[in-house]
Amino acid sequence: MLKPMNKTKTSFKCSNCNYITIKWIGCCPECKEWDSLVENIISTHGGHNKIHFGTTPAQLTSLASIDVNEQPRVHSGIGEWDRVVGGGLVPGSLIVITGDPGIGKSTLLLQVAYEIAKTKRVFYFSTEESLQQLKGRAARLKITDNNLLFSDAAELHSIITTAQQEKPDLLVIDSIQNCYINDAHTLPGSAGQLREAAFQLMRLSKEHNITVIITGHITKEGIIAGPKTLEHMVDAVFYLQGEDRWQTRMLRAVKNRFGAINELGFFNMEQNGLQEVPNINAHLISEISHAPGSAIVSIMEGSRPILLELQALTNASKLAMPQRVVSGLDHKQVVLIAAILEKYVKIKLSMHDIFFKVSGGFKIKGSESDLGTAFALLSSYFQEALPERSIALGEISLTGQIKPINNISHLVKEAEKFGITTLLIAKNQTIEKTSCTIKRFHNVYELLSLFGQ
Ligand code: TYD
Ligand code: MG
Repeated sequence: MLKPMNKTKTSFKCSNCNYITIKWIGCCPECKEWDSLVENIISTHGGHNKIHFGTTPAQLTSLASIDVNEQPRVHSGIGEWDRVVGGGLVPGSLIVITGDPGIGKSTLLLQVAYEIAKTKRVFYFSTEESLQQLKGRAARLKITDNNLLFSDAAELHSIITTAQQEKPDLLVIDSIQNCYINDAHTLPGSAGQLREAAFQLMRLSKEHNITVIITGHITKEGIIAGPKTLEHMVDAVFYLQGEDRWQTRMLRAVKNRFGAINELGFFNMEQNGLQEVPNINAHLISEISHAPGSAIVSIMEGSRPILLELQALTNASKLAMPQRVVSGLDHKQVVLIAAILEKYVKIKLSMHDIFFKVSGGFKIKGSESDLGTAFALLSSYFQEALPERSIALGEISLTGQIKPINNISHLVKEAEKFGITTLLIAKNQTIEKTSCTIKRFHNVYELLSLFGQ
């Protein structure tokens, strides 16, 4: 009888998107990445895949016997950072900090690493900047020598071996895109290599209980080749974003296995590094002008209410198709509120150009700011300012009814702290005792009562 022959099959797998083909091609037909196909040799024994009975079986355990040895979080003392990461860093977690080049990632991490190194062992691998450049930055930040140790090694296995042997509490790699892996089939900086690096660092952090923080730029390809590829593999992802005025930087949690997402931290980029802005609402409210077209709203960003100014400008249009220029808010939401006002308040907003923005470069999602949007539009339309120090908190339905919002007491408490004295809310909004004057509205038509037209 003929024995089945051992056969060797070859296939090619894209290191970027995992597309598989039996022939090598220069450009992956799926993700259009060049030179990303890697040969895969599959050995089949007579067409059957064998199970190796010698392999050690996995261990199974019940819930009760899982040992939960919760370690204390590591605080840096930089309040905004500690809050956004969920109340300090969790030992053994892998974290990505991302943002545009030049936004301040290296500055922030050097400050955090320095603070943590006062009590813990911290290694900082600078794969992008030379040690001399790093020293220059440290001098600017007035960072003196402490236990923080630096290296400019960029080969991943050498970094991992150092960490395995020395077992620091925190390992910073700035940036992951500049790391390379010796003998890898993938190109340095490619999505495949980023994934491979993240996988190996995840194992390092879990097996040796080391907190690993890596930085990554948002690249031109952004979503595909940038740090987005890593988001599902790591424990937490934080974006450091710029803001159009006052050199403000926002640190935003977009994924956090150990804390709330959408938590925001504020910093100012100054001559000697990033300085925390713990009292962002005082900062924002000082910028607000009491003028026609302006309405104040409050929204929850993570666990913190933020006071924002909405600014509207409406002008009789000379165009057949009046302009709608909106920033900071969904364009459709503003168009919708304008349509509701036109229908139920009978003002001809469809013949007006509408320019609309949220102050401070913030972005509002959701509909808690509907009532504020309506007030800003009406206030510009009638050229009359809203009552001074008033805040609008409510949603608007398609039928023109003003609807209550959730968690209002949190928003009101914060608003009171910053000198708000009048609340503009829905008729059926339940609200705890407050020192503010309350004006209630049942539908959009009643909003006209604030204007003396
Ligand atoms: P950097 O941390 O290098 O950004 P990233 O790592 O995200 O690329 O920040 C660089 C910018 O910050 C640069 O434009 C100079 C500015 N900067 C200050 O304004 N003050 C400072 O103290 C430092 C260190 C940098
Ligand atoms: Mg940098």
